[in-house]
Amino acid sequence: MRLLGLLVLIVSGVCLVNCTHLVVGNVADRVVLAHHEDFEYNAMPFFKRIKSFFYSSPTNKPIRGIQALDNDHSKASVNITAGGIGYPFVNLRIKSERGSRLSYDIGIYVSPDFI
Ligand SMILES: *[C@@H]1O[C@H](CO)[C@@H](O)[C@H](O)[C@H]1NC(C)=O
Repeated sequence: MRLLGLLVLIVSGVCLVNCTHLVVGNVADRVVLAHHEDFEYNAMPFFKRIKSFFYSSPTNKPIRGIQALDNDHSKASVNITAGGIGYPFVNLRIKSERGSRLSYDIGIYVSPDFI
């Protein structure tokens, strides 16, 4: 699990140049996955799809890490529009490439209970 997180960090580091992934905070060490979602919407010809993703911690835990990976490695983009690291909620705005579907793998990480 820890190794996987490290691998994700490395991979996301490589794509920084033309990055459509978003990895912020800590997604590898001393954190647990609080929420995972396959965020998918079908393509609309000639249009970009713009969708919001919202997560709010049911226990009001501050978010430690956020990871949103573009499964298609397309020219989609993703931004944090509210909340984020240190907040118990986050709002993401995700935009597809024109005429393409949206497919993101989203993970929200928080501290484990025993810390
Ligand atoms: C995110 O922000 C960048 C820079 O401001 C912008 O070019 C991009 O279109 C934004 N993406 C979304 C999904 O809003």
